[in-house]
Amino acid sequence: MPARLQPSAAQPQATPPGPAVPVHVGIIMDGNGRWAAERGLPRAEGHRRGMEAVRQAVSSATELGVKYLTIFSFSSENWTRPSEEVQLLFALLRIFIQSDLADLHEKNVKITVIGADEGVPKDICLLLEDAERVTANNTGLGFQVAFNYGGRDEIARAVRRIAPKLMRGEVTPAEITPAMIAAHLDTAGIPDPDLIIRTSGELRLSNFLLWQAAYSELVFLPIYWPEFDRKAFGQAIDEFSRRKRRYGGLATASVAG
Ligand code: IPE
Ligand code: IPE
Ligand code: MG
Repeated sequence: MPARLQPSAAQPQATPPGPAVPVHVGIIMDGNGRWAAERGLPRAEGHRRGMEAVRQAVSSATELGVKYLTIFSFSSENWTRPSEEVQLLFALLRIFIQSDLADLHEKNVKITVIGADEGVPKDICLLLEDAERVTANNTGLGFQVAFNYGGRDEIARAVRRIAPKLMRGEVTPAEITPAMIAAHLDTAGIPDPDLIIRTSGELRLSNFLLWQAAYSELVFLPIYWPEFDRKAFGQAIDEFSRRKRRYGGLATASVAG
């Protein structure tokens, strides 16, 4: 740096305010099939490229200062797809965990899986449990994989977790508050997403984090998931930093403060 541009010790330079970084980002990774179709490729190729984009998303999240990243990997409604596609998505998850777990662990990433076990092949359940166990004490990025996940299913699971306590008399109906329900969701202990990004241009949540998205900022990117990279992640965060969050109140301060 030229000497004349160096900040002098006598006159410390103010740090310019950077964009406000969301603590928790949820991503609805959509558009693998359309990405492939537009290039005359099989859908499988779109899903394979989508796995590369997941790697980019994880490393970008850490670089950008995001603390929690939740990706929508397989929805409770995706079972309605042809079984060959479901099997392919499962195979790619196996490959991802087997090839990337050591690297994610090395990068201090803590993996948590949200979603239901029902219907998921046993070997995948074991792989996911192993990923959670191996990374349980990591203190870096909290990486939630929403697999066989649906927001309504998750709320029903929370109710099923509370019901026995109610029946045993450990909990009274008056104690069933939003905070108690949140504490029984799969995401218990993880802050609600500040930002939810969806690729592919579709403008819906498709059953993703329904409870937790109450006050999330939504950013819809006009690119397909295989095209998602650090630049796209940064653009979504820039958009987030321009939003004014009011939570039903009247404060007009932007998220940047
Ligand atoms: C996202 O891409 C991957 C999953 C939903 C598992 P899609 O497979 O939904 O791709 P499109 O929406 O058909 O293009
Ligand atoms: C949402 O994408 C589910 C995942 C990203 C895993 P979909 O492609 O399944 O959603 P719809 O069918 O367009 O609503
Ligand atoms: Mg889709």
